[in-house]
Amino acid sequence: MLLHELAGIGRDPDGGVTRFAWTRDDAELREWFSARARAAGLDVEVDGNGNLWAWAGGDLPGRAFVVGSHLDSVASGGEWDGPLGVAGALAAVEQLRASGWQPQQPFALAVFADEEGGRFGVACLGSRLLTGAMTPDRALSLRDDDGTTLAEAMTSAGFDPARVGADPRRLAGIRAFVELHVEQGRMLLPGGARGLAGAGAPLGVASEIWPHGRWRLDLTGRADHAGTTALADRDDPVLSLARAIVAVRETAEELDVLATVGRVRVHPGAVNAIASRASLWIDARGAEPERVRALVARIEERSAAAAVEESWTAVTRFDRALTADVSAVIDGDVPVLPSGAGHDAGVLALAGVPTAMMFVRNPTGVSHAPDERAEESDAAAGVRALAELIRRQTA
Ligand code: GLV
Ligand code: MN
Ligand code: MN
Repeated sequence: MLLHELAGIGRDPDGGVTRFAWTRDDAELREWFSARARAAGLDVEVDGNGNLWAWAGGDLPGRAFVVGSHLDSVASGGEWDGPLGVAGALAAVEQLRASGWQPQQPFALAVFADEEGGRFGVACLGSRLLTGAMTPDRALSLRDDDGTTLAEAMTSAGFDPARVGADPRRLAGIRAFVELHVEQGRMLLPGGARGLAGAGAPLGVASEIWPHGRWRLDLTGRADHAGTTALADRDDPVLSLARAIVAVRETAEELDVLATVGRVRVHPGAVNAIASRASLWIDARGAEPERVRALVARIEERSAAAAVEESWTAVTRFDRALTADVSAVIDGDVPVLPSGAGHDAGVLALAGVPTAMMFVRNPTGVSHAPDERAEESDAAAGVRALAELIRRQTA
């Protein structure tokens, strides 16, 4: 699989990959993509939000059929989430070229910038900015852990932050978008099977993306000396942090939603000092938005603090006709599964673009971690199906 060419980029000692937006690794990934796309006869351009577009038949009349995904990762993530959709689409184009493909309608392969939000905290920044779901002002002032703003990071990567923002013309030029992606988790299917592995199917399609969001809870206390402050005199925000983390888990169980605290920050973080403040981030998702929001409300009540909403994405339903077109290029039974993970495909769907997703079986079900997997033969089946879909959609 072509994505193994990226194996050395952002490789962690634990076997995972860390590929944050606007870093040296990100630049290497972009250079790799541009060179590969040009070699496949595609014309590469970068939009004002840093998304890459590789065109075939870009000057043909009509709106474009677009496929694609992302190349960035979460911290210590797997190597399939994102790159499968990009490298798989490149491989599909190479197969089509070898069979003499000449698109009769515009086609593009898109690589969206900063899908994971690993550095600036908000996922799908490239597609949210393109569609206007996020304002340039808010995006450009986001800060990473070192205090660097997105505007500064883009500038040092050679991009002009003044060009960031909604791009309605480009958006209107997309007739349909399909994202090929590694399966994440083991979703319960209607017949009771868990995930594609349980169903014995190498490929599936998505029905919807669950509503999901990220919230920050800031807890304050009183800084003091660890060795001189009586326990009864302390106002320690780390205790509140611990209680809030447990409350997130208990409340998620009560409401039957998924909620995770995967990131905390304690200030100033000295071993021998009581902290002055502590923050935790809640990632919450579920089939019903009311329950997800109820979880956040209960945590606010239990911790007597207001949660700051950093992002929210409503339930996203994929286009039925386009999903049927995707199923039609897959051999055998095609399971239909919801996605608990967010995707650029979802952001485009919410902006009104007919959108669908194809999943490649993940035997471990693990994602956002080094054990994320797809078998080469399953990925190859996904590439063949995607090539046939592109051929039909551009005929
Ligand atoms: C993106 O992969 C997300 O769902 O967090
Ligand atoms: Mn992801
Ligand atoms: Mn992804």
